[in-house]
Formats: sequence, C-alpha cells, structure tokens
Amino acid sequence: MIDKELLEALNKQLNQELQNAYLYLSMAAYFESISLTGFAHYFKIQAKEELEHAMKIYSYILDRGEKVEFFDIPRPKSGWGSVLEAIEDFYNFEVTNTQRIWRLVDLARSKGDKATESFLKWFVDEQVEEEKNASELLAKVRIAKDSPPALLALDSILAQRK
Ligand code: FEO
Repeated sequence: MIDKELLEALNKQLNQELQNAYLYLSMAAYFESISLTGFAHYFKIQAKEELEHAMKIYSYILDRGEKVEFFDIPRPKSGWGSVLEAIEDFYNFEVTNTQRIWRLVDLARSKGDKATESFLKWFVDEQVEEEKNASELLAKVRIAKDSPPALLALDSILAQRK
C-alpha cells in the first residue's frame, strides 16, 4: 500500500513522463520540418526513453497493488524559432524534471516509504545522465548555431544515436 498523497504524486510523474515524450515527439516533428533528420532521430529516441520512464512507474504502482491513473496531457509546444531555442527548451525541461524527481524522493522519505525511495533512486541517477546529455547538446548547438556546415555535421552525429 502506498500513502495516498505519494501515490497521487507518482501517478502525476507517470503522466509527466508521457508529457515529456509528447514534447520530444513534437520537437522531432519540428526538426523533420526543417530537414534536420539527425536531430529528429535523436528526439524520437528521447521520446521512446520517456515512454520507458513512464512504464517503469506504471509497473511499480501496479507491483505495489495500487491504481494507475491517467490524466489529460496538454498539447505540447509545436514550433520553435531556432534550433538553439528548441535545445534550450530540452535542457530546461530536463532540469525541471530533475526537480520533480527530487521532490518525489523528499515526499517518499517524509512518508517513510523505503520501497518508493529505493525505486526512485534509478530516476535520480537517470536525471544526472539526462541533464548531462542535454547540456552537452546545448553547448554544441551554441557553437554550431551560426554555421550551417557545423550544424549539418552535428545533425549527422545525432543521426547515429541508438
Ligand atoms: Fe524522463 Fe528525460 O526525463
């Protein structure tokens, strides 16, 4: 059994991960629209990862014998003024997601729910990786943003993401 407030927060995070996937798919479509197919590929993979994050929480809630709940997912932003603007959004979104995960850990701890605290450790570690990836990409885009050849070279690198 999970404390009611904590269960609600877990369900909200599950839906947040789905919202993350939705935003990254929207970013992928934006990059397709400006022919940066490597960037688009990168964000399609990112969206898939977010779906996996959502499914981890989904399984955990069910494993604890609780009810998974789905909420409305707001329409994601669908246009960006530049590649840099989109990647800044990516980075900021991940930083905000880290804050959400940390708040969840604090809540689990305050409820004395050791299992949820332990479950969330994976997400704490994953966010270190997520922020690192986003900040590295942002740094590269800042370097390449005014040089089409550099941007296309970066696009080719991002096309290789597995
Ligand atoms: Fe599931 Fe990128 O955080």
